[in-house]
Amino acid sequence: MPAPYNSQTTSDELVADYANIIKDKAVLITGVTTGSLGHLFVKSIAKENPAWLILAGRNAEKLSQTAKDITSINPDVSVRTLRIDLGSLQSVREAATTVNSWDDIPAIDVLVNNAAIAATEFKLSPEGLELQLAVNYLGPFLFTNLVMKKVAAAQEPRVVLLSSDGHRLSPFRFGDYNFDGGKMYNRWIAYGQSKTAVMLFAISLAQKLGVNHRLQAYSVHPGASVWTNLLGHLDPNEWAPEYRNMHIQVGNGWEEVELKTAETAAATHVYAAFDPNLKANNGSYLLDCHVADPFVDPVKPWATSNVEAEKLWRLSEKLVGQEFSY
Ligand SMILES: NC(=O)c1ccc[n+]([C@@H]2O[C@H](COP(=O)([O-])OP(=O)(O)OC[C@H]3O[C@@H](n4cnc5c(N)ncnc54)[C@H](OP(=O)(O)O)[C@@H]3O)[C@@H](O)[C@H]2O)c1
Repeated sequence: MPAPYNSQTTSDELVADYANIIKDKAVLITGVTTGSLGHLFVKSIAKENPAWLILAGRNAEKLSQTAKDITSINPDVSVRTLRIDLGSLQSVREAATTVNSWDDIPAIDVLVNNAAIAATEFKLSPEGLELQLAVNYLGPFLFTNLVMKKVAAAQEPRVVLLSSDGHRLSPFRFGDYNFDGGKMYNRWIAYGQSKTAVMLFAISLAQKLGVNHRLQAYSVHPGASVWTNLLGHLDPNEWAPEYRNMHIQVGNGWEEVELKTAETAAATHVYAAFDPNLKANNGSYLLDCHVADPFVDPVKPWATSNVEAEKLWRLSEKLVGQEFSY
């Protein structure tokens, strides 16, 4: 058994430990732009010969740059790109139809819903949903369900969902998830709501597909890492105090948050996607390469409630206009 992993473990260390598991797997990940955690994740796992790396995102040039980066690391890995704008349900439906039409990729072993936006100005998606909720949660909810047949066709299928420590900023606001059309908007509360929704989605997937389809699903906090593009739209002098205030409001100071390096930030992605010893904790929230312990780690009960998870699943079906039963 390898030594227990922790916040200092790097993605490359895990990839070396999981080499036999990664080999020949088909992995689809959203959000792989240069400088992002998704980019680091795919470059890291490319070293151990997955059969397919499917790169999904909204910008063709950025996707093709990452595809080139992978090929230069390991020319034997087959790479495919997929255009998807997670903020548009129509785009999500088109992308899922494309994936389902690929006869040469009969199964997707690991689906990593990684793409997100954070702390953006109030904006509505084309379908009228607050944009952080649309991109970070509802788009991935619809995409995952629409490609589920291909995921469930894998021997040991997994779905990894990128959440955040930011889930502590807000429960899911069932009474007003759209912030009264923007009148009551707070960009951080909106981010928190979307990341709580992601954690609840992992719970529902594990419950609904864990037994009959052997699906494992995990939500992940990768650790705070200032070097990605996530908060690049905010003035650094302004975003940190706002974020700090939000953390203080929920009882935890920003100064307690450890900023991660590039090498350690994507490690929990790798752990969630491939660690062979997680099954007993199906549906759980992972951070620093371990299963979160609610007595020790910062986890809000509103994001681990089975009742909230089922309530959100039903609301999500209404919002996408389609029911999914397994
Ligand atoms: N970095 C951190 O400190 C931190 C902390 C906690 C959680 N996380 C989570 O980790 C994940 C990765 O974050 P990151 O730091 O790597 O962020 P990032 O550098 O901003 O990367 C985000 C990725 O998502 C893509 N994306 C954004 N909107 C999209 C849309 N509508 N449709 C499709 N793709 C879209 C971006 O593509 P474009 O280049 O086209 O915009 C980019 O590839 C996110 O879920 C984030 O919430 C990060």
